[in-house]
Order: sequence, then C-alpha cells, then structure tokens
Amino acid sequence: MIQHFIVIGNPIAHSKSPEIHSLFAAQTGVEINYQRQYCPDDAASFTAVIEAFFKGGGVGANVTVPFKQVAYECCVARGGLSEHAKVAGAVNTLLLNKALLKNGIPIAEAIYGDNTDGQGLVNHMTSLGWPLKDARVAIIGAGGAARGVILPFIEAGIAELTLANRTVSKAKDLVSELSAASEIIAQQQIKTCTTEELEGEFDIIINATSIGLSGATLPLSDQLDGHYAYDMMYGRNLPFLQHFAARGAQVSDGYGMLIGQAALSFERWTGHAIDVAVITDAL
Ligand code: ATR
Repeated sequence: MIQHFIVIGNPIAHSKSPEIHSLFAAQTGVEINYQRQYCPDDAASFTAVIEAFFKGGGVGANVTVPFKQVAYECCVARGGLSEHAKVAGAVNTLLLNKALLKNGIPIAEAIYGDNTDGQGLVNHMTSLGWPLKDARVAIIGAGGAARGVILPFIEAGIAELTLANRTVSKAKDLVSELSAASEIIAQQQIKTCTTEELEGEFDIIINATSIGLSGATLPLSDQLDGHYAYDMMYGRNLPFLQHFAARGAQVSDGYGMLIGQAALSFERWTGHAIDVAVITDAL
C-alpha cells in the first residue's frame, strides 16, 4: 500500500526532500508518494493543512521554513513532542501519536512532533569519521540552527562547547534557556563569547549562522583554528569553509546533514533504516 508524505513550507518549490525520500523508498522497497505542500505563512493555515493531511490518511510530514516553530506549538497543544523537539523549540518531523489514537483520541489531537536536524548533523559528522567523543567544539551562531544541534552534540559525548555569536547576549540567553529545558545541557559547561573573541584550537568549528545567505563573511580571529570545519549551509564557495580549508582543516558543507535528517524522519515513519552513504553517492 502506498504511504503518503509531504514537506510543508513557504516557499517550497525548491525543496529537495521529494527526490531524497524517493531514493530512500527505492532503497527500502517501501512504496511512497512524497509531495511538496505550499502553505500560506500563518499558523491557522498551517494547522488546517496538517490536520487535513493526517485526517486524509497521511503518514508523515516534514516541516521546513518558516513553520518549524509553528509546528512545535501545534504539537505542544496536541499529541506531544520528542525530547529533541522540546529542546530545539522546533519540529521538522510530524507523525501521529499511535498510543493516543489507541485510546480513542481523534487524529487532529494526536499529532506528534520530532526534530531530527541535530541528530542528522551528528550522524553526518560520524559518517565522515570526525571524532565527536571528547571533542572540543565551537558553534558560531545562536539562532534556530544552533539551538537544534546543542543537545545532540552533548549526547554524542563532546568534552567542551563554546557558543560564539555576533550578539553575545543572544548566545548567553540561549544557554540559560536550554539549561533550564534540559538536565543534560545544564550539566555541560558552555562558554559564550562574541564571534571575534573566539580564539584557540578546537577539534570542530561549526557555522550555524545564516550569514551565507547574505554573501558576507564572519569576522574570524587569526588565532582561531579547527581540525574540522562544518557549515550548516550547503552549496559551493562557502567563505567559512574556504577560510578553514586554507588553514589545513578538513571541511564539509551541510548537504549530508540534509540527507541525514531526512533519513531519520523516514526511519521514524516507516521503521526502515537508511544506508545514508549510498544515497549521498547517488545524489
Ligand atoms: P534562525 O533562527 O533561522 O537560525 P536567526 O534567529 O535570525 O535565524 O539566527 C541567525 C544567526 O545568524 C544568528 O546567530 C545571527 O546573529 P545575531 O544573533 O547576532 O543576529 C547570525 N547572523 C545572521 N547574519 C549575520 C551576519 N551578517 N553576521 C554575523 N552573524 C549573522
């Protein structure tokens, strides 16, 4: 039987998710129909579309910009959230809470949210052979992208975490908020500083800012070095990666993270694990 999925966003025409999930389907032999779903940019429309999708027999939905926080609110009021979604304050994967449905709760009240973005990043780094256990990690940025990866990194066993941001107060606020939301994060010492102040040698340095969209470059100290540098954006000519590659680091853009988060969504929905390396080669 064909299982139905959507990715919901605005804009959505550019989304690569249908292509990626069709490769997962081919790999696992699961029959799927995965569509791009446009939605007007307001919470009421989002909720109406999602409810109609699940009531109509949909199995799972991916959520992208600008709806990840709206999806989070929707699930708070309904079928619940995974720990990763709770801490991220954002949802990228929707499914039905089967336990609630078993108890006779209506479908519209049993919509459950997960967030696979951060774990997708951790899995990508692991597949690249980048050592996370006991690593000294620096993340630049304190918006939604940074928020979503902090818990998965700590769970992966990193030793030290520094959060740098143009606006240092936002980095401090994020650390306080996350420490209040998660015992595991509260137990991790997280340093904060401005981007310019970030200095020294790290195992892994991650760009979690949206600066790549503007074509501007981050003001990085000459005293900053990393063995591995990762940009959560993807595409060619990312100045952040060029900077660290020139200093001898191994570098990666975020394309593997995109595939990694998609693979984890597919696994949640269908129970089938994905061999991500094969898919990455195919793409
Ligand atoms: P999102 O939640 O989608 O990640 P955001 O909250 O706007 O988006 O966060 C974007 C991140 O990129 C922030 O860390 C932001 O820094 P500020 O908190 O100081 O705004 C960072 N960022 C965006 N444009 C930047 C730029 N031109 N230079 C430095 N940092 C930038």
